[in-house]
Amino acid sequence: MYSVLEFQGSREEYEAILALNRMVSPDSRGETVDELMEEEANWPADKLFKRFVVQTDGEVVAAGVCFEAYWEFKAGTVHLHFEINPEHSAEQILPALYASIIEFLKRRDETVLCLACGMSEEDGARVQFLKERGYEKVMGWVSSELPVAELDLGGFGPVTEQVALAGIRIVTLRQLKELEPDWKRKLRDLRYALHCDVPSPDPATKPSLSEFEEMVLRDPALVEDAFFVALAKDSFLVGMSNVWRNDVTGKRLDAGLTGVERSFRRKKIATALKIHTIRYAQAAGAETISTRNEEKSVMLKLNLALGFEPGPAWLSLRKTIDTHIGC
Ligand SMILES: CC(C)(COP(=O)(O)OP(=O)(O)OC[C@H]1O[C@@H](n2cnc3c(N)ncnc32)[C@H](O)[C@@H]1OP(=O)(O)O)[C@@H](O)C(=O)NCCC(=O)NCCS
Repeated sequence: MYSVLEFQGSREEYEAILALNRMVSPDSRGETVDELMEEEANWPADKLFKRFVVQTDGEVVAAGVCFEAYWEFKAGTVHLHFEINPEHSAEQILPALYASIIEFLKRRDETVLCLACGMSEEDGARVQFLKERGYEKVMGWVSSELPVAELDLGGFGPVTEQVALAGIRIVTLRQLKELEPDWKRKLRDLRYALHCDVPSPDPATKPSLSEFEEMVLRDPALVEDAFFVALAKDSFLVGMSNVWRNDVTGKRLDAGLTGVERSFRRKKIATALKIHTIRYAQAAGAETISTRNEEKSVMLKLNLALGFEPGPAWLSLRKTIDTHIGC
């Protein structure tokens, strides 16, 4: 017998959520209870974040969240996320969890125009469950991995030379902090400008400096020497690329946002930045760099040219609601 309950926010519940998260997503960064509690305490007060848990015999076996994405905010769009212990029946849990979240959204009495849910294409049962309820695929991202240990970057020598000859300097975040007194605001602005051009179902929202600090600078997976910034004349920030150390063993690094300011594109700056991240990964003894790119994007083409090997896709499924919320 499974019961769906509203999350109360006790330390024990947070511990159970993290244990579930480790089981469902063993590759994700092992957050601590304090980090997760702080992250959720800092969620903007005017944006929705509501969690539910599913228990059986006093044990948390699944969790579901509905939230408004403050970094890509679109009024009326609510994101759903589910985690279900694979040893328990998703067939029984998912309909009950989903129904409780929808009931909550109806009671909340705020207009919902779109429900959004992301999942791997390999999770066929979940995809089917949502399609039966009127969800449709709006976008897909191809996962890919670059085995870095044996990778020979010799052929890319001319690229880094070409970029240097064009007057572009590539520095680490650690160096940028010493070079540029106003680095934090400039990096926030560059990241936001690039984020606006990343293929996504929703437009990027400009983060405040404190949101930028929370999302990027205070992320424990941030490595300042694995975060590269391209500078043009007068230390103008024109591009960035980094790898996150979400895997605490350091064997897998995850690619962060790569982007180049519009007027500086097609000059191999992104390729040179990616090469810096790969060199960092090799020197740090990592085995792979993982990433996910929109299936028709330039970035996917660029990564495949660098040797990334494609894997399963991550899907964004959405349901548009034209009246008041009803499922
Ligand atoms: C994707 C992006 C980073 C590429 O930056 P860039 O510095 O212009 O890329 P490069 O000059 O290194 O391009 C290398 C190769 O990628 C391919 N490429 C890059 N831009 C392309 C485009 N607009 N159309 C087709 N192919 C393109 C080409 O094969 C190019 O080589 P070529 O110029 O010799 O033909 C840039 O377009 C961007 O910032 N986009 C917005 C942010 C984004 O979507 N980031 C990815 C999500 S993480």
